[in-house]
Amino acid sequence: MKIAVLTGAGISAESGIPTFRGKDGLWNKYDPMDLATPEAFQRNPKLVWQWYDWRRKLIADAKPNKAHFILADLERKYKDLWIITQNIDGLHQRAGSLKVIELHGNIWTVKCLECGVRYREEKTPLKEIPPRCRNCGGLVRPAVVWFGEPLPKEALEKSYSCTVSAEVFIVVGTSAQVYPAAELPFVAKSRGAKIIEINPEETPITPYTDISIRDRASVGMEKLIKILD
Ligand code: APR
Repeated sequence: MKIAVLTGAGISAESGIPTFRGKDGLWNKYDPMDLATPEAFQRNPKLVWQWYDWRRKLIADAKPNKAHFILADLERKYKDLWIITQNIDGLHQRAGSLKVIELHGNIWTVKCLECGVRYREEKTPLKEIPPRCRNCGGLVRPAVVWFGEPLPKEALEKSYSCTVSAEVFIVVGTSAQVYPAAELPFVAKSRGAKIIEINPEETPITPYTDISIRDRASVGMEKLIKILD
């Protein structure tokens, strides 16, 4: 059975990583236009890196939760299961998932604005802010997708191909507000896939689901295992 799983910040909520929207969401405290756009970085790279350094520390201290581990188990059980994640925290990989498509990049990778080199920078906290390129000494930025930026072409293409061939499309912990990720469940639906959603709240996807599990991810994933068996 071909399965695709779209995950959002909600799957990492039980690992102690704040989501973006909803009552304790990051975008209630911070203005994304000051921290998560190329213009914001150009205006004040130090401020943007201070925020990412804080998030990196939070993520480094966090652990994958049961929902991440269940998905890693399902990947071993169902040979054709891919995770399409909007998250940049790398928790799916830390839980043992191998087939993970990072639509919005990864917080542990940086790319240099001068020489273009990309590399893993896992020091936390960072020694200097903003960090300098290890290759040319130029300014590096987090290799993540900011508002207004295109998604990585390969990741997007791979996501669509997994989506169109999925027989079951599972949506876990996303408010389905941000495109093109939010379009994937609708693409899967149009191809006849069964849509299963796990979220404590309703989302724009809910009316189109075949099964909607109104639970947090760790509980919902337990229920999902029984549904898939
Ligand atoms: N288990 C499952 N879902 C949860 C949990 C939980 N424990 N806690 C919260 N949620 C749900 C919320 O109900 C909400 O629908 O997770 C969703 C989180 O939504 P957002 O904070 O909007 O996160 P996400 O959908 O991943 O945002 C998409 O927006 O800011 C950009 O690039 C950023 O990748 C992010 C994108």
